[in-house]
Amino acid sequence: MYEVYLRSFADSDGDGIGDLGGLRERLPHLAELGVDAVWITPWYPSPMADGGYDVADYCAIDPRFGTLADADALLAEAHALGLRVVTDLVANHTSDQHPWFVAALAAGPGSPERARYFFREGQAGGEEPPNDWISAFGGRAWTRVVEPDGRPGQWYLHLFAPEQPDLDWGHPGVRDDVDGILRFWFDRGVDGIRVDAAPAMAKVAGLPDAGHGPEAAFESRAWVGNPHWDVDEVHEILRRWRRIGDSYEGDRLFVAEAVVNGPERLSRYVRPDEMHTSFNFDYLTCPWDAARLRAVIEATLAALEPVGAPATWVLSSHDETRHVTRFGRAWTGAAFGGAALPASPTHLALGLRRARAAALLTLALPGSSYIYQGEELGLPEVEDLPDEVLQDPTWARSGHTVRGRDGCRVPLPWQGDRPPFGFSAPGVQSWLPQPADWASSTVAAQRPDPGSTLTLYRTALRLRRSLRGTGMAWRPSARDVLAFDRGRALRCVANLGNLPVDLAGQGRVLLASSPFDGELPPDMAVWLLPDDPAAA
Ligand code: NOJ
Repeated sequence: MYEVYLRSFADSDGDGIGDLGGLRERLPHLAELGVDAVWITPWYPSPMADGGYDVADYCAIDPRFGTLADADALLAEAHALGLRVVTDLVANHTSDQHPWFVAALAAGPGSPERARYFFREGQAGGEEPPNDWISAFGGRAWTRVVEPDGRPGQWYLHLFAPEQPDLDWGHPGVRDDVDGILRFWFDRGVDGIRVDAAPAMAKVAGLPDAGHGPEAAFESRAWVGNPHWDVDEVHEILRRWRRIGDSYEGDRLFVAEAVVNGPERLSRYVRPDEMHTSFNFDYLTCPWDAARLRAVIEATLAALEPVGAPATWVLSSHDETRHVTRFGRAWTGAAFGGAALPASPTHLALGLRRARAAALLTLALPGSSYIYQGEELGLPEVEDLPDEVLQDPTWARSGHTVRGRDGCRVPLPWQGDRPPFGFSAPGVQSWLPQPADWASSTVAAQRPDPGSTLTLYRTALRLRRSLRGTGMAWRPSARDVLAFDRGRALRCVANLGNLPVDLAGQGRVLLASSPFDGELPPDMAVWLLPDDPAAA
């Protein structure tokens, strides 16, 4: 699965913002890369307070991205190339510009319009928020409104930015309307839905305090029994959606974005009548450390086995510091939630070497892999964006202390020797500036180069097809080495230690993350055709 962050993929109309026309033109790149499907981040009309995750109309396309006719054409062209299309459903919250919220504000306290959201009276005579819940982007999860009569009045809940008011999923109209939205897109031929912020959708009745102190951070992977995250009632919503997907001919995929406390909680989202798969944030955030990675891989497979769901593996996304940059730092792990860690110096050559090894490790694992656009080019995080171009709400909400996620969202370089590198027409300024030195990273520069990261991904994705249906069996190895077989088809050996690894008698080399002779050097991985495959 290839993640398309639409506004940074390719711009066809010269406004510096990626669009459906740009994606359509570049679909052959994705087919040639060898992915099976694309997940497109929100394409709906949006004020873009959170890059489109603030939706103002769920059944239309933002004019900056194109039209419904473009979406239809994209679906047809992708299908003709053998690519499936997964779209993003943001149903925990709408935009504050959505007609439901606009009507709720206008209708005033106690109105049926307000019942679609969480409007509550404040505490301390209205001055203080209704409870202690916090926003993922920093600060309190409540904003006070000015009532139609001009006086300060009720508060509304937003677990993300104030421009993203949370819907009350206890409201039957919300449930029915979102059913209709799902059908709207499935009827048009969308093959799957990525469910945004799935664990946020249910809240404990009565909205009790969570016990967050004044300095509390949004730590969804640490929370147990939190009243606004991973509340069990969320599964009723997911089952409802699954029934809708299953009512269609052919396959319809659901993938949940569920950042929760460990594999067991995660496995609940992929029970047989819920989502088919879920992102694996434990893998995404894991440092470049063999023992930890092995523990995450084993825990993931063990938790999913009883519910019969395939695993997923992901190294980067539009929400996380790109792994080339992370893997070159002293601390190579990630903090989900938008580059929340203060940036520390990185050694990009080391990071790229490890990222290429991580690609072979990841693509050898059983289940589905998610590739974030630009990862196949080995792009680093852009850490020196000027303050004035930053758009992620995290930047403002943190009082300009956390720069947020813009550094992984810089538009892709396609060709040429200067910005906008074929992303837009020559001379156009892209919505986030690209580094001037990306000429050797472009698709056009990497395509003919047998040693490029693009060629590595293309070859790995081609070879990976033969792994379908084979299990995984670990091989004995040193502590810093991960070695396993996928049946007779493949042995993967990844060296995360400081010493070379002897590969004598292991098999014929099919693909290596970087060139080598003899022993496998540190921070490299290799795929071999095993001489003595272990039983899977
Ligand atoms: C997860 C999305 O990936 C992220 O970009 C967004 O900010 C939040 N959900 C809120 O919708």
